Amino acid sequence: SSGAFGFRDQLQDTMALVHAHPRALREQILYAAAHQFVEGDVQHWWHPPTNRGVRTHFSDDYLWLPAAVCRYVSTTGDDAILNETVPFIEGRPIKPDEEAYFDLPRLGPSSTLYEHCVRAVNNGLKFGAHGIPLIGCGDWNDGMNLVGEHGKGESVWLAFFLHNVLTQFAGVARKRQDDTFARKCIDEAARLQQHIEQNAWDGNWYLRAWFDDGTPLGSSQNEECQIDALPQSWAVISGVGDPQRARQAMDAVDQRLVRRDGKLIQLFTPAFDKSALNPGYIKGYVPGIRENGGQYTHAAVWTIIAFTMMGDHRRAWELFRMILPPNHSRNPDEANLYKAEPYVSVADIYGVPPHVGRGGWTWYTGSAGWLYRLILEHLLGVRREGDKLAFAPCVPPEWKNFKVHYHFGKASYHIELRANQTWVKVQKISVDGAQQTGETLALKDDGKEHTVEVIF
Ligand code: GLC
Repeated sequence: SSGAFGFRDQLQDTMALVHAHPRALREQILYAAAHQFVEGDVQHWWHPPTNRGVRTHFSDDYLWLPAAVCRYVSTTGDDAILNETVPFIEGRPIKPDEEAYFDLPRLGPSSTLYEHCVRAVNNGLKFGAHGIPLIGCGDWNDGMNLVGEHGKGESVWLAFFLHNVLTQFAGVARKRQDDTFARKCIDEAARLQQHIEQNAWDGNWYLRAWFDDGTPLGSSQNEECQIDALPQSWAVISGVGDPQRARQAMDAVDQRLVRRDGKLIQLFTPAFDKSALNPGYIKGYVPGIRENGGQYTHAAVWTIIAFTMMGDHRRAWELFRMILPPNHSRNPDEANLYKAEPYVSVADIYGVPPHVGRGGWTWYTGSAGWLYRLILEHLLGVRREGDKLAFAPCVPPEWKNFKVHYHFGKASYHIELRANQTWVKVQKISVDGAQQTGETLALKDDGKEHTVEVIF
């Protein structure tokens, strides 16, 4: 309500900037790390310049720090960031039965960014009865604040996200020769994977969570919120979901959550309304609005990213075209239904009558950043790996070629990608007419214009 900085949101926004403005991500990482308590948890949001903010039991916030660091280091190659010294903050611990408290933290001791990440990861290793991470007062879905209000509820989405962080961070730790911590990450990830497959499969898709009393959420047994897109998409994105199950789960997403009639992808269905379940303030939203069973675009983009990662170009492009804002206003009838600007990303699209198809909160960076990553990195398949570009397009097979203009510092690369037959494998790369070796393009910040051809 007052323009605070959010830990997870601004980290995700700047994660989209590794191509256009990598420094912004670097600065945001160090800025966010300075809002981490010595125990490893973080302020959910704070107000600069005093930095008064909230300490909570949110269970995913602090994990976005190692997630952003892994992305920054792997895309830019700038390992030096791990040695930057950043102070912790200190405050009284949050009581188990307290949802949040708002206060001014004290300045604590300093340590390397690497140590900040280690504490974040360690703080995330808190599991419930099913061996799945505790959901606390909410995970990515802010409004599910009562699922684990007594400290026992578990989040299946968080299990996939944590697994992803553990495996990526193991690589960072190994490179730093911290083999003990790398091993710990790998062991924890392996255990988590086992618990996911043993306990979190509902028969046709993955569960979303368990309440404190062990009642499942996101299950075919539930009257409302029977299937939630988040764990299905992340089963694929994390690479940890059993491939056959993940495929089956994504088919269920397609059947139950993709609403071709209203041109939207629901977060879950049915929306919370009359059942006895009380997941939290999400229930205060009218059914079909925002997180309560509308299209939450941030999550809809994750669903499409998952389809690209399965190599399903047909569904990926169909759904991408479906949710693209201008395609909701192609004529006056559509525009009157959508009622939002067609040239910016929207946070949500209403999913329940009488407002199906109506756009909600626009100019939403939370979904715009991920939409940009979907387009550049997953559909066009252009990925930074240090000072190289790698190419893995997931484009319609009838596409013969496309161009990407990529700026690297002061240099510009005009890249034409062409398929002789299929888009499966890079055969040849030439830069300014000279053929290169390997399947990646070496980037040089030489202030020049370069013409590149990548032949598949
Ligand atoms: C809002 C919040 C974000 C949260 C999302 C889903 O966009 O800013 O932090 O993850 O809602 O609840």
